[in-house]
Amino acid sequence: MRKKIVAGNWKMNKNLQEGVALATELNQVLTAEKPNCKVIICTPFIHLAPVSNIIDHSIIELGAENCADKASGAFTGEVSAEMVKSTGAEYVILGHSERREYYNETPEILKEKVDLALANGLKVIFCIGESLAQREANEQNAVVKAELEGSVFHLSAEAFSNIVIAYEPIWAIGTGKTATSDQAEEIHAYIRSIIAEKYGNDVAENTSILYGGSCKASNAPELFSKKDIDGGLIGGASLKTADFKGIIDAWK
Ligand code: PGA
Repeated sequence: MRKKIVAGNWKMNKNLQEGVALATELNQVLTAEKPNCKVIICTPFIHLAPVSNIIDHSIIELGAENCADKASGAFTGEVSAEMVKSTGAEYVILGHSERREYYNETPEILKEKVDLALANGLKVIFCIGESLAQREANEQNAVVKAELEGSVFHLSAEAFSNIVIAYEPIWAIGTGKTATSDQAEEIHAYIRSIIAEKYGNDVAENTSILYGGSCKASNAPELFSKKDIDGGLIGGASLKTADFKGIIDAWK
């Protein structure tokens, strides 16, 4: 059975003290009332080590929002997958549309990052999704297929079991505009079908596919009720405990 997941993506928000306070509060709330799903928080690099020491990892898992495409050495300012892992983090988000767009991360670069993350024992939340222009041209299926083929479909079936997919239509990220649950379900089912074509039904059925893009407590129950939507990757609404908890509770 695939896992139900609610993952937070803090992006470039919260200074160290604010981030530690948010993680502390979330940990308190979720240890008092255990979630019905896997909960992951993905934080800026500087928060990883202190947050790792605060949280009960059996209830909240920790992830980074990026890692380097090189293993180690003279790459000033970069943070390697091994370094991320050494903080106690279990996950890393790769392929987010903001990284693809603003930092020119190509499918080839992302493939290197995926390989290094897995080689260092991290699980990967791999993001895919189309722009508004691509959706209007009805190219969304081709876009997500190419993104998977470009960066994760070279993996063995065993390695692929460490990948969580996050479908995030770019036009829905931070815009307040959510894909309808039917729109999301349609493409999630398509994504699962191409995973099945590549790796077989068992792997496809065991792969968690998250929806991301203006997901909040008010729309999460409807989105999560769909057969192929296994949870959410949450940006804005992961920055306040009550908002994030409201989404986690959609699984209750
Ligand atoms: P949002 O971001 O929830 O603020 O739309 C989601 C994401 O980019 O992961």
